[in-house]
Amino acid sequence: MRLLFLGDIVGRTGRAAVTARLPGLVERYRLDFVVINGENSAGGFGITEEICQDVLDAGADVVTLGNHSWDQREALVFIERQPRLLRPLNYPPGTPGRGANLYVARNGARVLVMNVMGRVFMDALDDPFAAIARELDACPLGEQCDAVVIDFHAEATSEKQAVGHFFDGRASLVVGTHTHVPTADWMILPGGTAYMSDAGMCGDYDSVLGMDKEEPLQRFTTKIPRGRFEPAGGEATLSGICVDIDEMTGLAAAVAPIRIGGRLAPALPAIWD
Ligand code: FE2
Repeated sequence: MRLLFLGDIVGRTGRAAVTARLPGLVERYRLDFVVINGENSAGGFGITEEICQDVLDAGADVVTLGNHSWDQREALVFIERQPRLLRPLNYPPGTPGRGANLYVARNGARVLVMNVMGRVFMDALDDPFAAIARELDACPLGEQCDAVVIDFHAEATSEKQAVGHFFDGRASLVVGTHTHVPTADWMILPGGTAYMSDAGMCGDYDSVLGMDKEEPLQRFTTKIPRGRFEPAGGEATLSGICVDIDEMTGLAAAVAPIRIGGRLAPALPAIWD
């Protein structure tokens, strides 16, 4: 089974890269399932219903969120009628929407997807380890589902690695998002879970985390805000991870990074050629 996970879409240029390139990738590589983090897709902050639909129409099966989930207030409402949009699982009880859900992939596989937030250098939320464990206990890999994808939206690489190791063998993929720079540690952990500390972003890398450089530089050097953060407008690099999943076990058989367009050195999923 072929799974593609793309990192955080940042602004208009990130959306343009996804809508222009994803349909071709789905076709060329016969992708069975696609997950994309969309928490920065609306001007860098949150997501709108229209943008969410555009990303789904381009070929995403699930769109995940993070600390910017509610920056566009309409997300609090439309998430209730959009089961393919996930917000962090470990938000307080009563938060609109859902943090985990079961989907059917194009090959018929049942895929459990979770969006979970870390707590190191981030908001104080419920324990992500316990939250993930509850979902896996209720829907174990190889029993109630055929693949498990965990988008762990977190700042600290240590916490991301800890989640990867803690759930090694119980998920098909644990991938980090939020830091917007792809890490070079894609691998299959000893227990069979594919792992990458950060998927990177679908955004313009001639930027500070996808934002136009001017305002971040101003704030770092003078501590005086001059304006708003605006997404950088240059061509985006599509960035993420490809996982070939063994259909018997639900664990990873092969893993590779993907980077297309923009400023980063390209990487195509050779595992599927
Ligand atoms: Fe984030």
